[in-house]
Amino acid sequence: TRVAIVFGGRSTEHGISCVSAGSVLGALDPDEFEVVPVGITREGGWVLASGDPAQLAITDRKLPEITAGLGNAVVLPGDPTAHGLMVLDPAEGPRALAGVDVVFPVLHGAYGEDGTIQGLLEMAGIPYVGANVFASAAAMDKEFTKKLAAVEGIPVGPYAVLRAGVTLSEADKERLGLPVFVKPSRAGSSYGITKVSDWAQLDAAVAKARQIDPKVLVEAAIVGREIECGVLEGEAGGAPEASLLAEVRVVSDHDFYDFEAKYLDDSCEYTIPAPMPERVSRQIQEYACRTFTALDCAGLARVDFFVTPELDVYLNEINTMPGFTPTSMFPRMWAATGLEYPKLVDRLIRTALR
Ligand code: DAL
Ligand code: MG
Repeated sequence: TRVAIVFGGRSTEHGISCVSAGSVLGALDPDEFEVVPVGITREGGWVLASGDPAQLAITDRKLPEITAGLGNAVVLPGDPTAHGLMVLDPAEGPRALAGVDVVFPVLHGAYGEDGTIQGLLEMAGIPYVGANVFASAAAMDKEFTKKLAAVEGIPVGPYAVLRAGVTLSEADKERLGLPVFVKPSRAGSSYGITKVSDWAQLDAAVAKARQIDPKVLVEAAIVGREIECGVLEGEAGGAPEASLLAEVRVVSDHDFYDFEAKYLDDSCEYTIPAPMPERVSRQIQEYACRTFTALDCAGLARVDFFVTPELDVYLNEINTMPGFTPTSMFPRMWAATGLEYPKLVDRLIRTALR
């Protein structure tokens, strides 16, 4: 089976995607799969890349990046010509996928996790891992995730949507209370998120989020624990399956589970399974599967929740291409549930080919 691993991309999560791809490449069984590593630069150029996982790691707090300059493809350190690299114009990009049986788009954020590359692959008739066009677009957008989940009875916390140019009303400030989290509606890895504890900080926080997305969400802070659940599409068309839950705790001086805490500072602790009354664990797993179905997801997703001290559960968000980095929760949760990394990757690709 020829599988293209596509990574990098045009979103703020470019570097994280490279790190995720490194882990996936490392987990693929070379006897089973012939791998075509395809990098996408921040500008949208497509590069036939080195598939060496060692080159796709965070070193000295620096994220890997796929760059193409002066007509040469430079993929990570090293001599690009040694890998037979070539850069394709964005319009020509799909040519890099000619002859592959299946694509694993290990892309996070815009132009990767939001339905755009999924549309390209649908047009080309190439099977791919993960959610389809609609589910990807809906799940990427925190506004529509909440709306679709809420109508299926999944609890979501109070929030306000600020479309381009709109500011938060006094009534919404009253309703949400402080602190609030200000987030780009379509982003990931905590890029562009600010915790606001004083309304005087709001405008700056909104401006920062708008650098990523003109549409911004202001969410009431839910005081509680961060609990995550992995979901896989059921085998042979069965119901979706939930992993054991993970609890993530930020242990240093980070204000919340932000980018540095997630990837750079080694400042998170996690517990799998999350200590929780059995009834609540089952409720969260059921909510995770229901969210997966509500958004019409396929393949995989990681669904993130907050759980208050009173054990009330709120959906935070869903990721249709969750991180696969060495510090990411999705593969860890499935390993704890009995599906080791290589088996997980194998199952995802087989599901896509079904
Ligand atoms: N958006 C990042 C990659 C995650 O959810 O894991
Ligand atoms: Mg996310």
